Amino acid sequence: MNKKNVNLGIIGLGQIGSRLYKEVILKRKDIEVKTGKKINIIAISAKSIKKKRNFSFNRKIFFKNPLNISNNPKVDIIFELIGLPGGISKKIVETALKNKKHVITANKALIAKNGDYLSKLAEANKVNLEFEAAVGGGIPVLRTIKDGLITNKINKVVGILNGTCNYILTKMGSSKESFSNVLKKAQLLGYAEPRNPKFDLNGADTLAKVRILSALAFNKKISSNQCLMDGIENIELKDIEMADRLNFRIKLLGITELINNKLFERVHPCLIRKDKYIANINGAMNAVILNGKPVGQSVLQGEGAGPGPTSSALMSDLLSVLRGNIKYPFGLPHIKRKSIRNYDINLYSNSLYLRFEVNDRPGVLSSITKIFTKNKISIKNLIQNPNKLNNKASIVIITHANSEKNFKKLFVGLSKNKYVIKKPIFIRIEKN
Ligand SMILES: NC(=O)c1ccc[n+]([C@@H]2O[C@H](COP(=O)([O-])OP(=O)(O)OC[C@H]3O[C@@H](n4cnc5c(N)ncnc54)[C@H](OP(=O)(O)O)[C@@H]3O)[C@@H](O)[C@H]2O)c1
Repeated sequence: MNKKNVNLGIIGLGQIGSRLYKEVILKRKDIEVKTGKKINIIAISAKSIKKKRNFSFNRKIFFKNPLNISNNPKVDIIFELIGLPGGISKKIVETALKNKKHVITANKALIAKNGDYLSKLAEANKVNLEFEAAVGGGIPVLRTIKDGLITNKINKVVGILNGTCNYILTKMGSSKESFSNVLKKAQLLGYAEPRNPKFDLNGADTLAKVRILSALAFNKKISSNQCLMDGIENIELKDIEMADRLNFRIKLLGITELINNKLFERVHPCLIRKDKYIANINGAMNAVILNGKPVGQSVLQGEGAGPGPTSSALMSDLLSVLRGNIKYPFGLPHIKRKSIRNYDINLYSNSLYLRFEVNDRPGVLSSITKIFTKNKISIKNLIQNPNKLNNKASIVIITHANSEKNFKKLFVGLSKNKYVIKKPIFIRIEKN
């Protein structure tokens, strides 16, 4: 960027936008020392000008229509901090890029859905589209892949990418409270959305981050295929306690890897042995493990969400833009990024933890184990916890490794069994 005075527009003044506003004001001098640029916030926008904010601002710079900021010839860099996967968020970014403005966003939903199109637009207009804050909050994971590990061949990325889920799973284990009680606490602490925490809990938030990581790590287009996505909503305290007894912890992992040059992206709860690094990432923390050649394994850990860490990543994007260099948003020219074929999930083989609630009657165990034999799934461990008061029992089974295809058949068999009173809970056991 050649200009000495650079004008910013901030669209969205919620948790992240309001913190960024204050951070930019606070760090103006520091930014000038580090980049030689004088920055000014000359435009802001939110849904309502009347809403009480935790900072004061000149009402003259408030734009009711955010697109007027994208079209304002005086604005050089725009922050999109609304958070929709399309709609007005897409329109703001698209218009700004077409008007040759640099764009910085924390919006993983937008990038996971429209990142290919928007990066092509940024390239064509010779401006930057930066989204470090979209994955891993304050952890500089995207920059690590794009810059630090630039010539490595990455073949697998494993991460705890959602602080809300990690907080809930950790807290259930330490406080012995139910999922719903801990979720309420997470909402009070601001970790989980107060109204609709669905996208955190069902794995969709993690999957959006996984799709962005895959595109960067493997130099491919963003995948849009259906992926294996399970959330943590069905996990009960019983499972956390049983996992502990078996020397495991339960974590929601986002995993992307190349298997025989095919892409395998998945998000699901995993049982991980307690002595593994990722099993010990607790609370709202995030962590990412990158496997590359020749670097080997790189591990990044840090605060994955919240205004502080997220604004740290946004500021890093801002300084990257101010320092100059038009960069490819996904690390290489759009034309070089090919689509990638998906790995057939039915072929994936792993061990499972299964828990089912049964009516505790004579013959129940043999009736259930027969279904396993019929589907050629061998049992490694079986624990039965009877509840004498209501004649019910919890049965926990750890299987030997088998294919997803055979497990699907097993679930059909189990769901038809007359003793099984609830849909079985199953959690995949992660080897690495
Ligand atoms: N919160 C986190 O910890 C975190 C972490 C990493 C990434 N992110 C990402 O950061 C982005 C912002 O998240 P957030 O937590 O700050 O969200 P938020 O608190 O819900 O704030 C959203 C902001 O967008 C404004 N807005 C909504 N519709 C608008 C419109 N049509 N025109 C102009 N402004 C509009 C809202 O205005 P009002 O204030 O007037 O309602 C609000 O200021 C999202 O992409 C999110 O995924 C968040």
